[in-house]
Amino acid sequence: MSSSLLAQIHYISALAFLVIYLIKTVLLFTSVSSLDRFAAKVKVPEMIISTLFLVTGIWLLVILGGIKVIYIIKLAMVFVAIPLAVIGFKKKKKALAFLSFLLIVGSFGMAEAGKKKPFIQSTAIVDNDGSRLNNGKKVYLENCAYCHGNDGKKAYRGAPDLSGGRNEGYTAQVVTDGKKGDIGVMPAYGGTLSFDEIADVALYIAAMGKTTPAPVTE
Ligand code: HEC
Repeated sequence: MSSSLLAQIHYISALAFLVIYLIKTVLLFTSVSSLDRFAAKVKVPEMIISTLFLVTGIWLLVILGGIKVIYIIKLAMVFVAIPLAVIGFKKKKKALAFLSFLLIVGSFGMAEAGKKKPFIQSTAIVDNDGSRLNNGKKVYLENCAYCHGNDGKKAYRGAPDLSGGRNEGYTAQVVTDGKKGDIGVMPAYGGTLSFDEIADVALYIAAMGKTTPAPVTE
């Protein structure tokens, strides 16, 4: 399944989850008998939604193969919120249910705030000959391949195919400032990569488009 579709399902199920939690929390504070009726009615849809939410979330992480610090916090909030909500609604503990709702809202905020944040760098072993090209390759494999792929063609959530190469100046600008697209977001690396690292990765991407043509034999 495409990562963009998965991300869409993940987002919609998270939103549906939030709406159900909001209604339940309001009912817990206003009318406990309606809460029980509502909870019974949404039991099955809620199970489907939460399963979709978890499966798409894990699936996306597996495709990506990387994580951001802010997403670890987000995940921790979700995993604390769920048992709190289960106990809160079952035992009618208002404080627990409310805290759980706040955590879920907070995890949404984290996801939004983290969009332009870079991923935790991986470690790539590249021939360390001190050349700018190999240094750029290392920066690329450690930071960019999550979304763009080792060969530039992975296209995670709308990440453009870079295998044809790009203008160095343009790449350096996009990498420094990030770019919000229609489907996915290109993180901003101005705060984590040095000026030289960005210049080197731009050189590496420019070189991606310049493959040596096979010798012509007549
Ligand atoms: C979270 C996934 C992700 C990561 C990691 C990522 N990119 Fe991107 N990148 C994107 C997306 C999505 C876009 C398209 C944004 C848009 O639609 O304008 C993009 C756009 C670009 C573009 C512009 C391409 C064009 O045709 O406009 C370049 C160049 C680029 N990325 C290079 C890099 C480099 C270099 C790195 C590592 C330092 C990197 N990217 C890391 C997702 C990512």
